[in-house]
Formats: sequence, structure tokens, C-alpha cells
Amino acid sequence: MKTYAIVMAAGKGTRMISDKPKVVHEVLYKPMICHIIDALKEMSIDEIFVIVGHKAKEVEALIDDDSVHFVLQKEQLGTGHALLQAKDILADKEGTTIVLNGDAPLITAKTLEALVQHHKQNNLIGTIMTCDCDLDKKFGRIIKESGQVQEIVEFKDLKEGQYEIKEMNVGEYCFDNQELYKALAKITNDNAQNEYYITDVIKIMNQDGVAVGSYKIADLAEVGGINDRVELAEATKLLQRRVNTKHLLNGVNIIDIDTAYIGSDVVIGTDTTIEPGCIIKGKTTIGNGCHIGPYCELTNVTIKNNVEIKFSVISDSVIENGVDMGPYARLRNDCHILENVHIGNFVEMKKATFGEGSKAAHLTYIGDATVGSEVNIGCGTITVNYDGKNKSQTIIKDRAFIGCNSNLIAPVTIGEKSFIAAGSTITNEVEENAMAIARARQENKPNYIKTLEEKRTQKGRK
Ligand code: UD1
Ligand code: CA
Repeated sequence: MKTYAIVMAAGKGTRMISDKPKVVHEVLYKPMICHIIDALKEMSIDEIFVIVGHKAKEVEALIDDDSVHFVLQKEQLGTGHALLQAKDILADKEGTTIVLNGDAPLITAKTLEALVQHHKQNNLIGTIMTCDCDLDKKFGRIIKESGQVQEIVEFKDLKEGQYEIKEMNVGEYCFDNQELYKALAKITNDNAQNEYYITDVIKIMNQDGVAVGSYKIADLAEVGGINDRVELAEATKLLQRRVNTKHLLNGVNIIDIDTAYIGSDVVIGTDTTIEPGCIIKGKTTIGNGCHIGPYCELTNVTIKNNVEIKFSVISDSVIENGVDMGPYARLRNDCHILENVHIGNFVEMKKATFGEGSKAAHLTYIGDATVGSEVNIGCGTITVNYDGKNKSQTIIKDRAFIGCNSNLIAPVTIGEKSFIAAGSTITNEVEENAMAIARARQENKPNYIKTLEEKRTQKGRK
């Protein structure tokens, strides 16, 4: 029997006050919808359907996965109406369908699996996930009689006496697929919001004599639902704590659990220390025994073992064992930093390979360059890679020494063990073992200042 999942993500999210659709907003640097898809991908689900509507293209652009299908809900007439958009594809299929609100990104595979298990073990046709909540929550209330679920009443449709019901609908469900569509065919929009509610299928199933039940979870945090930016910020905090706790229990040393922001896909090895103020996100992997921070931003970076990085911003790059970097280094666009390199203060690198044991200790720009091993780049060196139109390559071979304040005008090759005199502007290839000096010769004018001063005093006397 197949398992399907439907994520309802067509709504605008009016209370976000945003040009972007709600599910595109990020929780801990990842869009809400991607968190949900990732949780579903952890489970054995055969096909995932995402109902999109408001700015559908923006939502679709975030997901590149063959097992995820998008179904358009042109007009958002309610959560039941959202599900009906997939009727032609799904209604006849035998199987189990999980239905998820698109605005609850902290849901885990573990909780969804427990929902499905409860549904199956109790031979239910429709199962609602519920939670006991504070009465100020505007969630749908679960109406029970003698412990049996009767219906869900939406907050705006509550009658006297129903406000006090603590058990509420959190917006995650499990259904027999064919029975779900049978019940959906009967829903109407005869309610306070004139919407077609998914929640109405519970009452319909009951009337049809089909078994419905509820699965109560202990903690609302996972499924609280994000409706405004306050809830968005709170969700980020919750996920931050969840992710950081996982790393701490896995042997990562996070100095301050509240100021390290680590994305949910980041992998970190044991005995690595994360100092305060770090943002580590995307597909970043950090090895063992590293020291990261304080204050680093790492996006899609692979860092091997025993690497030390302080106060630096790095993206889309690979850093091998034993590298020491910062403070204030900036690396971007496919840099590859080989073993035991030292990169110091105010060094920027872009699309550069920097060879084993090489050093750029201060104030340097290395862009579109291949640097060999044991090279020393002096303070203030610039690879001049851009002529206003084209980008060109600089090649610096093993053990070359680049004196301070040199301009290497690309395309140019600096030979092995060659020596560039400080202050040179190099435009031509330098062969191996050569010394290149490319600057005006120094001229000293003896006693120039003394003579000048004497002239001035004479003028004053006149
Ligand atoms: C829903 C439930 C409510 C529950 C609450 C939990 C219904 C009718 N009510 O209310 O019982 O307590 O979640 O958070 O379902 N969506 C569409 N198309 C639509 C309307 C909504 O795709 O036409 C999507 C939204 O993008 C959102 C999700 O469905 O991701 C939930 O919709 P929302 O309007 O937030 O429902 P709630 O009022 O929160
Ligand atoms: Ca909601």
C-alpha cells in the first residue's frame, strides 16, 4: 500500500505583511516549505504533493525533487478546497495520505511516523493530530463525546461552551486516501469564513459511519503554526535550540547555545568548538577538532579537521586540514584552501586555489588565481584580475615570494621560487628562480631639504 503526503501551501499569509508567500519565509535560514519537504523525505513516502497558489512559481523554485509534484490552487477558498485540487490525480488511489499545513515547519519525521502508526494500529480512516493548548489559541477545537471524536469546530464558528475546549487541531492529519476524497466531495462553505474546510471531513466521516480518531502530542512547539513574524522568529529560536542540542549531545562544543545559529543541514565533527556569534548554514560540513569563531558566517563550506577560523565570512569553498584563518578573512566562489595554509587579517579570496603551507598574512586580494605550495604573499598584494570587461587568471608557482604591495596584472604567471620585489607592478611572466623588480628607481637628492629651508629664510628677510 502506498503512502502519499499533501502539503497545503497555497495561502498568502496576510499577517506576514510581505511580498513573499508565507511558506517561502525562512526559519533558521531555510524556507518553511523546505523544512517540511525534508521531514517527509526522511520517511518512506511514495509521492509528495504540494498545493501552491499565491506566487506559486516562487514556491516551486525552491524545490528540485522528482518525487515532489505541484498542484495549483488558483483561488484560495480554504484548506478543503486546496485538497480538492489534487482530486483528479489522487481520489482513486488506494493508500494512506498524510495532510500537512504548510506553515508548521518544525514538524519532524518522528512525529509524523507516530501519527501514521497510531492511525494504522487503531484501524482508523481519519486521524487528527491534536494538542492541549492555551485557550487563547485560535485553533479549531476537537469536539468529543464519551472520548470519541465527533467533529472539529473552527475558532470563528465556535459556539458557547466550546471555547473552553483545550484539545485543539494542530493541522496535521492522516487519512485513508479514497475515504478522504469521498468525504471532501461533500464539504460546503457554509461557515463563518465561507471557506471549504478540510476539518469538515471529520464530521462527514462520522456521519458516514467511518472510524475517526485523534492522536494527541505533548508539545505544541513542533506544530504551532506560523502566521506572523513574531511566530516566525519564535520558530527560529526553537529550531536553533533543537539543532544546537543535537550537536552538543554529539560532542560538539557550543560555547553559547543562544548565539550560535546553525542550520539544520550542517554537519559538525566531535571536539570542534563553535564560539559565540557564528552563523553556519546551507550545506556546510565541519570536521573534528576545529575552532570556529567568534563571529563567523559560513555558507556551503566544507571544512576538514583541525581548522581554526576567527571573525570571517566564507561561502562555497573547501578548506583542508590544519588551516588557520582570520580575523577578517573573506572567501567566496569556489576557493580551495589546501593543508596548513595561513590566511591572516583582511584577506579576500575568490575562485582561488591556495597551495599547501602557503601564506597570505595581511591585506591581500587573490582572485581567479592558482597559487602553489609554500608561497608567501606579502602584505598588500593584489591579483589584478579585471580589466573592466574580462576576468583573467594569475598563476603563482611553488615557493615563489611576492613582496609587499605588488600588483600582479593578470593574465600572468609567476615562476617557481621566483622573487617579486616589493612595490612591483608585474605585467609579464616571471621565470623560475628569477627576481623581478618593476618600479621606478629611487633617486636621492642630497641636502634638498636643507637648501629649501635656507631659500625660505632668505625670502622671509627680504
Ligand atoms: C487551520 C485549521 C485549524 C487548525 C490550524 C492549526 C482549517 C480550516 N483550519 O487553520 O483547525 O487549528 O490550522 O494551525 O484547516 N491553505 C491553502 N489553501 C487555502 C487555504 C489555506 O493551501 O485555500 C494553506 C495555507 O497556506 C497554510 C495551511 O493551508 O499553509 C493552513 O491554512 P491557514 O489559513 O493558516 O489555516 P488556519 O486558519 O491556521
Ligand atoms: Ca495557520
